[in-house]
Amino acid sequence: MKKIVIINGPNLNLLGKREPEIYGTNSFEGFLETLKNKFNSVEFVYFQSNIEGEIIDKLHEFGFSSDGIILNAGAYTHTSVAIGDAIKSIETPVVEVHISNVYSREDFRHISYITPNAQGLITGFGLKSYELAIQSFL
Ligand code: DQA
Repeated sequence: MKKIVIINGPNLNLLGKREPEIYGTNSFEGFLETLKNKFNSVEFVYFQSNIEGEIIDKLHEFGFSSDGIILNAGAYTHTSVAIGDAIKSIETPVVEVHISNVYSREDFRHISYITPNAQGLITGFGLKSYELAIQSFL
């Protein structure tokens, strides 16, 4: 059984309520149930935090003991050298995901401290971005 860790960063706890025209109307908790049913041979760990250091701690915690990490670091994607370094420091491959297509948005969203250290990047497919990332680990 593969162990896949999904880490969501700041403001993603408000999915479904937050800017629904960009991020959709589904909560992540509801979507996670769909993922568990669809990929029933996968053991999922889900963690969300609005705090940069907590995201780093989870990367350290699962970065040597899981098969894949899916990381949507939210706005920290565009600012956090420390999260980029954490990805470099662990063994488990990280796939960067975004719900929106960050390259079709503001210029500051075109910078990522995650991408150079990630196995790959999936951006712009809504919540399906997470499904595509899971499939990349199977
Ligand atoms: C996001 C894109 C980021 O630019 C933004 O700050 C987010 C969400 C996305 O999933 O599309 O919080 O990571």
